Amino acid sequence: QKDEKKEMMVIHELLSKLYHHLLMNTEHGKKAMDYLLNRGFTEDVINRFQIGYAPPAWDTAVSFLTKRSMPVHLAEQSGLLAKRQFDGKYFDRFRNRIMFPIHDRNGTVIAFGGRVLGEGEPKYLNSPETKIFQKGKNLYNLHAARPEIRKAQHAVVFEGYVDAIAAFRAGVNNGVATLGTSLTEEQAVILKRNAQTVTICYDSDRAGVEAAFRASQILQKAGCTVKIAQMPDGMDPDDYIREYGSDKFVTDIIGASMTVMGFKIRYYRRGKNLQDEGERMLYIEEIIKEISQLPKAVERDHYLRQIASEFNLSLDALKQQHGQTQRQFQ
Ligand code: GTP
Ligand code: MN
Ligand code: MN
Ligand code: MN
Ligand code: MN
Repeated sequence: QKDEKKEMMVIHELLSKLYHHLLMNTEHGKKAMDYLLNRGFTEDVINRFQIGYAPPAWDTAVSFLTKRSMPVHLAEQSGLLAKRQFDGKYFDRFRNRIMFPIHDRNGTVIAFGGRVLGEGEPKYLNSPETKIFQKGKNLYNLHAARPEIRKAQHAVVFEGYVDAIAAFRAGVNNGVATLGTSLTEEQAVILKRNAQTVTICYDSDRAGVEAAFRASQILQKAGCTVKIAQMPDGMDPDDYIREYGSDKFVTDIIGASMTVMGFKIRYYRRGKNLQDEGERMLYIEEIIKEISQLPKAVERDHYLRQIASEFNLSLDALKQQHGQTQRQFQ
């Protein structure tokens, strides 16, 4: 059992070296290399993250492992190979994909995220849950970012591998990414063990914002101080860095991240005309509802005062409505 896990890790290490070599040094990898350089990756970054390329052939990994007398059935069990129904022959699951190795906390490769080269479905193919890889218990790039996270007592969480890598390029060395699922309680606990503050920096589409709200709850439950960083509409961190550059990303996005409540206050405002009385009242109600859910009385008081002064309302009236909302929630 333990030996099987070890062998699976050896297989992952070997394949990540193979894919990296194919990308860097061979004709097979040329198109993938051009694609990466075009997206702003540098050779340095490609080396540091051990990025690779799995060619379109059905047997790159199968042949490689067979030649080295590696236990091919373990490669199947760890999601690298699949078995053909009709004759039981193995074939590669990852084909024509940019390969992002996923490391455990010790820096051993335990899984891959594979992005299709160009167009195609699915865009990202990730290793399944295996004996050595539990998506919900690992974070992309944690092994490398951990010293910096601990030192700064601050971690930044991204939605995608590419975003974590782009942020690293921009000088944000304390970034990690979730692995194609929403943030789990286990991941929150891991982050809390390494840092007090966590900044969520997800894509700024609707899905990203909603995922950020969910993640912030889970992180707060784990005891983290949570901030949310937000790109302009529709952009993700990688898009932003390529469009506006590293410095602006560090100062205007990461540096300008807001508390969760501060973020919600701004988010609910979007698309509303606060000069219009009806829309203004709707907005105030939404915010009061959010305030009612804050755990600390001091915080609730702080934001109620802020809303009262901004909209020139009496604090008494606001508190009264807040009291009603609270009763509704009980
Ligand atoms: P790029 O074009 O490479 O920049 O990707 P993107 O920014 O459109 O990625 P997106 O925001 O859609 O996805 C972010 C993360 O979600 C990826 O790093 C994956 O982990 C995961 N993901 C995205 N698409 C898929 C998919 O089709 N299948 C799976 N399993 N995960 C996905
Ligand atoms: Mn997408
Ligand atoms: Mn997204
Ligand atoms: Mn994205
Ligand atoms: Mn992207």
